[in-house]
Amino acid sequence: MSTFTMDTATSRATPTPVPGKRMTAPAIRDRKSDGKTEQPIVMLTAYTMRMAQLLDPHCDMLLVGDSLGQVIYGLPSTIPVTMEMMCAHGAAVVRGSWHALVGVDLPFGSYEGSPAQAFASASRVLKETGCAAVKLEGGEAMAPTIAFLTERGIPVIGHVGLTPQAVNVLGGYGARGRQQEEAHKIMRDAKAVNEAGAFCIVVEGVLEQIATEVARSVSAPVIGIGASAECDGQVLVTDDMLGLFERTPRFVKRYDDLATRIQDAARTYADEVRARAFPTADQTYRPKPGS
Ligand code: KIV
Repeated sequence: MSTFTMDTATSRATPTPVPGKRMTAPAIRDRKSDGKTEQPIVMLTAYTMRMAQLLDPHCDMLLVGDSLGQVIYGLPSTIPVTMEMMCAHGAAVVRGSWHALVGVDLPFGSYEGSPAQAFASASRVLKETGCAAVKLEGGEAMAPTIAFLTERGIPVIGHVGLTPQAVNVLGGYGARGRQQEEAHKIMRDAKAVNEAGAFCIVVEGVLEQIATEVARSVSAPVIGIGASAECDGQVLVTDDMLGLFERTPRFVKRYDDLATRIQDAARTYADEVRARAFPTADQTYRPKPGS
């Protein structure tokens, strides 16, 4: 099923209404009942319209992660990511999808100040993108903010464990929970976010056993990344799993090697241009017969 028609005059994709229903936050939340999720939740990141179109049929959720700072913009971390970036990419992903719930990250500095600041940012993201949920990082400290948003009609995806926006406090991107106190803190964070009303919780970069325990201890579905197969779902950065980067973290499985394939295609194109082997008659315009 296609979400767009191609305008042949401009080669642009025009979104079209499609029959069918998008995943909703309550539907995702209800995938876990009595502490169990029969069918694990599939989530991938997406930042562009076309990638959303390709991923959407296979995913329950598409995340417009602030990882776009590094992946799309070549920034050193997620810290400099702006609301403008998140809104522009969020709207593109919503336009390119019809089935998956689209969640958009609130960028660093847009929500931590107060629940009121978070509401202003989250409502702007919902209005400007059409997405159905926002994600924000943080545990106990962010629980009152998560409650404030959900009580005012904004579904929230929690994010605990390794929280990349806190890299300057954490000192790096290593797995969390190796010390007992840290492991206990991750559990307290997850429980606080759960009780505050997050409809699902991303648990990133923690020891497997902690992620498994978290998934068993909270009622909301837990989506793991660098976590545990026992989570209620999994998320990866799409560009990592497609093999677009030379270096991928240990927890990433590469399902393709697109970097090599793109380089091979670019090399072949360059060789053909230099040899005047491209374009051929197939790619050039000729007078129409009879004109
Ligand atoms: O920004 C992001 O892409 C994320 C995922 C890695 C969970 O937060």
